[in-house]
Amino acid sequence: MHAMESSFFGLFEGLKAYRTQMGRITLFRPEQNALRMQMGADRLCMTPPSVDQFVEAVTQTVIANKKWGVVAVLGIASAPEYMFVVYVSPVGNYHKVSSGLNLKVDHTYRRAHTGGTGGVKSCTNYSPVVKSLREAKSAGFSDVLFLDAATGRNIEEVSTCNIFVVKENILSTPPISGTILPGITRKSISELARDIGYQVQERDVSVDELLEAEEVFCKGTAVVVRAVESVTFYETKIKYITGENALSTKLHVMLTNIQMGVVEDTKDWMVEINDTIGIDTFLN
Ligand SMILES: Cc1ncc(COP(=O)(O)O)c(C=O)c1O
Repeated sequence: MHAMESSFFGLFEGLKAYRTQMGRITLFRPEQNALRMQMGADRLCMTPPSVDQFVEAVTQTVIANKKWGVVAVLGIASAPEYMFVVYVSPVGNYHKVSSGLNLKVDHTYRRAHTGGTGGVKSCTNYSPVVKSLREAKSAGFSDVLFLDAATGRNIEEVSTCNIFVVKENILSTPPISGTILPGITRKSISELARDIGYQVQERDVSVDELLEAEEVFCKGTAVVVRAVESVTFYETKIKYITGENALSTKLHVMLTNIQMGVVEDTKDWMVEINDTIGIDTFLN
């Protein structure tokens, strides 16, 4: 069991209720907000309320709050207080396939922009991904590989994991420059690969390099290390080495051997928990 990968999609609308000179309570074009919510919901693959449901819900809420609204404060600011929540879930294979991943390079949607929040684990990073992922999955792909928003020429990352491209003894991975998540697995795999004599380059990796790569693989807490069997860019499908002879298999074994205590943790990566409560307490 480990802390679950989580994604939250949120969508909201904002409109005002007015108290007119005559003392009536009115809404300004609420059906327009309802329609905008429907557009947003479609983009985030959510089920929207109908226009009637939306207007009715707003109406009821306004009525219920008609005696409030004394302090006129609304704005974008960090909250004065936050709740820190840790939750756990059993996890299985993240991608429901036993072989390598078949990735689709997304040439339409962009995941993160320079100056945005792509480099931090913000919930907002997952909303742009969901529609692209749904479309790719319904076309038979396992996941989506996003390109940089600025040029659309360099690969960035997959929806929930980082990516490595292997050619000869060089592993290349996009740099941490604010648009991709600095994965802890990425960092660990880089170190393990260097340990066994590979060169690891953190640099812009052009989508064209996918054509010449021998191997491509993903890594992240959820996916661990996962070979990519193919990458499809427009109509071109490129295949890669997977299986026993793949470097990704070797790195997967190296990492999981450390995580599962099969080999000595010489890097001091594992933190032991002193289980004073005892697992039986939870199981009973
Ligand atoms: C967008 C994204 N990129 C990369 C990663 C990999 O990061 P890590 O290896 O720290 O799990 C994750 C997973 O959490 C992710 O959600």
